[in-house]
Order: sequence, then C-alpha cells, then structure tokens
Amino acid sequence: MAKKPSVQYVCRECGASYPKWQGKCDACGQWNTLEEEKIEQAGFSILNTKKKGSMIEFVSLNGTTQTYERLKTGIKEIDRVSGGGLVPGSAILVGGDPGIGKSTLLLQIAAGIASKQGNPECFYISGEEALDQVRIRAQRLGVAESPVKLASTTEVKDIIATLEKNKPSVVIIDSIQTMYLEDVESTPGSVSQVRACAYELIKLAKKKGFVLFLVGHVTKQGAIAGPRILEHMVDTVLYFEGERGHHFRILRAVKNRYGATDEIGVFEMQDKGLVEVENPSALFLAERQGNVSGSCVFAGIEGSRPLLVEIQALVSQSGYAAPKRAVVGWDSNRLSMILAVLEARCGYNFSGQDVYLNVAGGLKISEPAADLAVAMAVISSLSNKPLPSDMVIFGEIGLSGEIRAVTQPSLRLKEAAKLGFTNAIVPTSFKKETKQTDMSCYEIGNVHRLINWFN
Ligand code: TYD
Ligand code: MG
Repeated sequence: MAKKPSVQYVCRECGASYPKWQGKCDACGQWNTLEEEKIEQAGFSILNTKKKGSMIEFVSLNGTTQTYERLKTGIKEIDRVSGGGLVPGSAILVGGDPGIGKSTLLLQIAAGIASKQGNPECFYISGEEALDQVRIRAQRLGVAESPVKLASTTEVKDIIATLEKNKPSVVIIDSIQTMYLEDVESTPGSVSQVRACAYELIKLAKKKGFVLFLVGHVTKQGAIAGPRILEHMVDTVLYFEGERGHHFRILRAVKNRYGATDEIGVFEMQDKGLVEVENPSALFLAERQGNVSGSCVFAGIEGSRPLLVEIQALVSQSGYAAPKRAVVGWDSNRLSMILAVLEARCGYNFSGQDVYLNVAGGLKISEPAADLAVAMAVISSLSNKPLPSDMVIFGEIGLSGEIRAVTQPSLRLKEAAKLGFTNAIVPTSFKKETKQTDMSCYEIGNVHRLINWFN
C-alpha cells in the first residue's frame, strides 16, 4: 500500500490544499502562495495529550437556553455592528488594510470597556508594536488613564498561561499574524502558525467566557492573509474599510453568529482617534455640488440602516482603441452590464467613450439597487444635463431593461425626506400604501421610459 503523505501544500491566500507543490494556486489564481504543512497538525490542538473519547449526550432542540448578557462597548457603532453588544465567549476577527486604524479602534474599545463600572479586565496584547508605541497612541487618544492591561509579546503559550490565571472580559490580540507557538514548526504568519494560534486562543475564550478580538491584516487581494481559514473559525468577522485619502472608515460585519450581517458602523478618523458618525448620509453628501451633470443621489441600505450617497459618472471621448472603464466603490462587471443594457435597449453607444464611475466619500456599495442611479449618472454625464438636485433614485435593472423592486423602499424614502429631498425615482412595484413620506415618487417600470422622461 502506498505510504500516506505526511505533508501537504496550503495556499496562504485562500487556504486551498494540494498534495504536491505547484507554482500557482488553482483555487484563487495567486502565484507562489503555497506553503508546506504537516498533515497531522491540521485543525488539531497540539496541546492535547492522547485521551480516550467519552460518550456524547444528545438532547432535544427544545430545551432551556442560556441567555447572554451582552457586553456593551459604549461605542454605539460597534454595538450595532456586533448585533447589540459583544457576546462573552465569542471570537471576533477584525480585518483590514495595514494603517486603516484597526489598532486605534481596538485600543478605544479596550479603554471604553475597561473604564466601565466594575472595571472589567481588558487585556491588550500587541505583537507588532512596542509598549511605548501603544502608550503614545493611548495618550494621543486621551485614554492613557484607563485601566487596560497592556503587554507586548508574541508567545501564545505565555499568553494562554497568563489568561488562565486571570478573569479577563476582553482580550485583544494585535495581530494574529505575529503570534507564535513553538510547537508548530513554521514561521509566524504562516498558515499553520496562524491556524494553530487562533485555535488555541479561541478554545480558551470559549472555556473562560471572554470576548476575543483577533486583528488580521488583509493582503492586496482583499483576503485576510494567513488565511481565510480564520473566517470559519471565528464567530464574527468585521472588516474595517476606507480609502487611505479619505477620513471615513466603515466597519462592516460580513459574518456574525450573534447578529445581522452587512451591518455597518461609520467612523471618522480625526487627530484624536476614531469618532462615531451619527448621521452618515449627511456626511457623505456634504461635499455635493448641485446642478452638475453626471451626479446622482442613491438612496441605499447598509444592513438595517438607510444611507444616501452620491454616485458620480464621467463619460468622455476615448483616445484608446479599447475605451477605459474605471470604477471606484462599485462592481466593474455590474457597470459593464448596465452599459450593455443602455446600448441594447435604449440605443446609446459607448464604444468610443471612456466611462468613469465613483462613489463619493470612499464608500463601497454592493447593492444591485444602485443600478438605476448608476445608469442615470452615466446618461446625465453623456448628455451633459444635470439631474434635479432634490431627487434620489433607487432600483435594480434587469437585462431586458426592466426595473426591479428593491428591499425596504419606505426606509430609503424616509431617510431622503429627512435630508430635504422632495422627489424620488422608484421601481413601479413600489406599493403606494407602504409610502409614509410626502415625497413625490415617479414610478418607472423600464429604463427606456426613464430616458424618455429625462430627455
Ligand atoms: P493604526 O490603528 O495603527 O492602523 P492599523 O492597526 O490598522 O495598521 O492607524 C494608523 C493610522 O491612523 C495612521 O496613519 C495615523 C492615523 N491616526 C490618526 O489619524 N489619528 C489618531 O488619533 C491615531 C491614533 C491614528
Ligand atoms: Mg496595528
């Protein structure tokens, strides 16, 4: 019988495994990302000694459940994104580009919780920065007096031994890619190290009932480096996004076992740290110029919250053989689809035109409900005719040019009315009775009709 292989090769970007080394990962298409890993280690605790298994007791679904006393951070945006506060014993992965503000946010969370009544024990363990660096940041944030317990180490064994002896409420590991377990034979940040360190820390969090924050850096491709496997191991995955040049930061829940996903928290990075934004729509529309062609206000929903954003398009004569399509903050495939629908159903021609699309303020939108707003921004730029500045738009566009219904239209309209908008273009399927605002709504069933109206 052939000998069972003792090593496998795991992609550090996506976690796919292969029996033999190869230059390119077939799963994610990245080059030179495969790392050797011992098979015995995968997913198992290396701390456990050999023990015989005992019988599992099965119970019915309908039993008494433990109610969780959620830990409020005192930062409203975080409490909302986490589904109403942090659940004891849960593990939260906070991902984001380097320098986006993860350490700042977590230090603010730690300080907020540690200064609460009863002084819950908060441990901030930095593997990246020296104690002085964290202290300087704490002074800058004005939280240096808060009773956070700070340490700088990368040894997971020491961390576990220390936490076992304490009663932590919150533990922050910044970052998981710097952590090291000597029992695993590979360098910090490698697949096996990250997986093993996270596994041991999560196990301890469940056992002792503390909230564990793991900071994970995102690579250029957008996956948390070292790797996606972490997403499956934790209860909640939060991504911290934002454009470097902008001061808005968005905390987005992409997975949450204890709350809704796609919920966002909006922050502004100031010189004294991250400040919550009470009314994000007003902030995103603050720099809008009225009466300009190619600009359109989209009434969107992020999680449970309505959010108005400005969508800008610029269509210009192309100097290239293959015209350029550049998109910031939206899906470029979706833009191509909308241009194709406008060409096929409405007779426009974009073949000699460059098309640029931008979601103002550095926000990333994934909702298809923005289709109609994108189409209107493009057409407004092409015909150099501004849209009414007191109008919001939402609706999804189908391939035959039909405009489809979107979720929660009345919530979108309410937010628009609150910000002083008086007109809206909405899909026809929008039911009159659900309308609770006194905005004038133009119900449109097809892009073709919308364009006739606009021209
Ligand atoms: P940091 O939290 O170190 O980012 P990460 O841990 O995600 O790598 O944030 C670093 C950036 O934030 C840095 O460019 C400076 C900026 N910053 C402020 O603008 N104001 C502040 O009060 C702080 C602490 C940081
Ligand atoms: Mg950091």
